[in-house]
Amino acid sequence: MLDVTQVMVQEHRLILRMVALVDANAARAEQGVFQDWAFFLDAVDFIRTYADRFHHAKEEDVLFVELVNNGMPAKRSPIEAMLIEHDHGRAFVGALESAATAALAGDESQVPAIVFNGRGWAALLTDHIHKEDTILYPLAERVLPAAVRPRMVASYQAAAGDGTLHVRYQALVERWEREAATPVG
Ligand SMILES: [Fe+2]
Ligand SMILES: [Fe+2]
Repeated sequence: MLDVTQVMVQEHRLILRMVALVDANAARAEQGVFQDWAFFLDAVDFIRTYADRFHHAKEEDVLFVELVNNGMPAKRSPIEAMLIEHDHGRAFVGALESAATAALAGDESQVPAIVFNGRGWAALLTDHIHKEDTILYPLAERVLPAAVRPRMVASYQAAAGDGTLHVRYQALVERWEREAATPVG
């Protein structure tokens, strides 16, 4: 039967690399050894475009829709819980963007808000992705009938466009991973 979650698991791997960067750089910011506020705006761009518009949109517009079409309740269900967590993530990201924008303009009083919202987003996404990888996606592979799968894969491919989005955001993650690996001084 055509697989409809493996591509999503692969996207989680790149999102988790950004989660690790946000968590580590929030810790370094708290210690006063990282002041490159542009990183957090790059993280916001990654999260909004790659995690939200690209990955979460596939879940919200395709995978979750088919699960509901095939018997999973939309309310008081894992689907509702995942959607609520997507919204919580968006709230952290909005606050992170405001704080990082102010810090970049010289307002250092925003550093605790960067640390709080960066860590909050990282913890939320770590837990969220774990639940999808270990519970919701395996469940989807068990319950979704073969007949709906080709159109799901076609919808994923339409969302992926020409593939440049993944390449661009993987390069962004790699650039900041190199920065994090470079000792200061
Ligand atoms: Fe999700
Ligand atoms: Fe996901």
